[in-house]
Amino acid sequence: MDPISWQGGRLILLDQRCLPNSIEYLSCETSQEVFEAIRSMVVRGAPAIGVAAAYGMVLVAKEAAEKPPATRKEYIFSRAEFLKGARPTAINLKWALDSMIRIVESTDWVEITHKLERTAVTIHADDLEANSEMGRLGATLIDVGSGVLTHCNAGALATAGYGTALGVIRSAYKKGLVEKVYATETRPWLQGSRLTATELQWDGIGVTLIADSAAGFLFHSGRIDWVIVGADRVAVNGDVANNIGTYSLAVLAKYHQVRFMVVAPTSTIDAKVFEGSNIPIEYRSGEEITKFGEKWLAPPKTEAFNPVFDVTPAELIDVIVTEKGVILNPQEGKIQSLISK
Ligand code: MRU
Repeated sequence: MDPISWQGGRLILLDQRCLPNSIEYLSCETSQEVFEAIRSMVVRGAPAIGVAAAYGMVLVAKEAAEKPPATRKEYIFSRAEFLKGARPTAINLKWALDSMIRIVESTDWVEITHKLERTAVTIHADDLEANSEMGRLGATLIDVGSGVLTHCNAGALATAGYGTALGVIRSAYKKGLVEKVYATETRPWLQGSRLTATELQWDGIGVTLIADSAAGFLFHSGRIDWVIVGADRVAVNGDVANNIGTYSLAVLAKYHQVRFMVVAPTSTIDAKVFEGSNIPIEYRSGEEITKFGEKWLAPPKTEAFNPVFDVTPAELIDVIVTEKGVILNPQEGKIQSLISK
């Protein structure tokens, strides 16, 4: 199952909002449609958003061809800024769009669409390759018989394929190292129950779902050796923004001496952000908490506070796994030297 594909000049996205109830695809033919697909979580997960936006820029170039020649590049730059606003926390979105902008700046108009298309295909393929390398590296840290817990969905659905955190779990599972995989539901979007449970079951990897609030109980039982999560943005000092609830898990893990692994490609490291407090956090509608589909879970006028990411300080993280190598006890100097490799 391909969550993102480029077919005949159209971006085809598996609509993740429909899982696990139905498999539906959405076709995007304009940059507006790509913006809306990212904003409304048809496609989500930091690397996957980056890949989708890169293809979105090919659509932008086609739209630019309809504009007066003197304004075409300006149109492309302004649409790239527009796409960046679809979701503010995942740096891969900005990273992919900036890569596409650099192509536009250095390319003659006649070649732009073709070059952008080739670059989007490369971004897509490189992410898949990075995931398989991170899976290999991360699995070397897991001991035989380990219990692992993952949060949100950092799998094939959130990336170009294979996954970051789930890539490590897949690789470790294949090597017979993983005794049991637990996944949190991940309120309010339920990426854990709807997506992680779905894709692990597609792969025949047994997964046990817990309510987010059961994590402390599970850690206390001694059944978890590693928490393995993805990231939406990594600051230079090693602080990590990831789906809401990651920070709570990291605090609990520290108290119970459970190790904490973050798996993220170097495209998720933001060299311009020194520490986590400077990472912009996305807040979404309170109705994502007070409603489920059309049904109210709270009285209609209930006020709800809905930050969808939080920041885990580096001191709570044992290791960050990237495709360029593993950073034990992450801190500034180590991250700087890894990104300059
Ligand atoms: O709001 P989402 O579903 O886009 O959040 C996704 C996450 O936080 C993932 O853990 C992160 O993007 C890493 S995906 C490989």
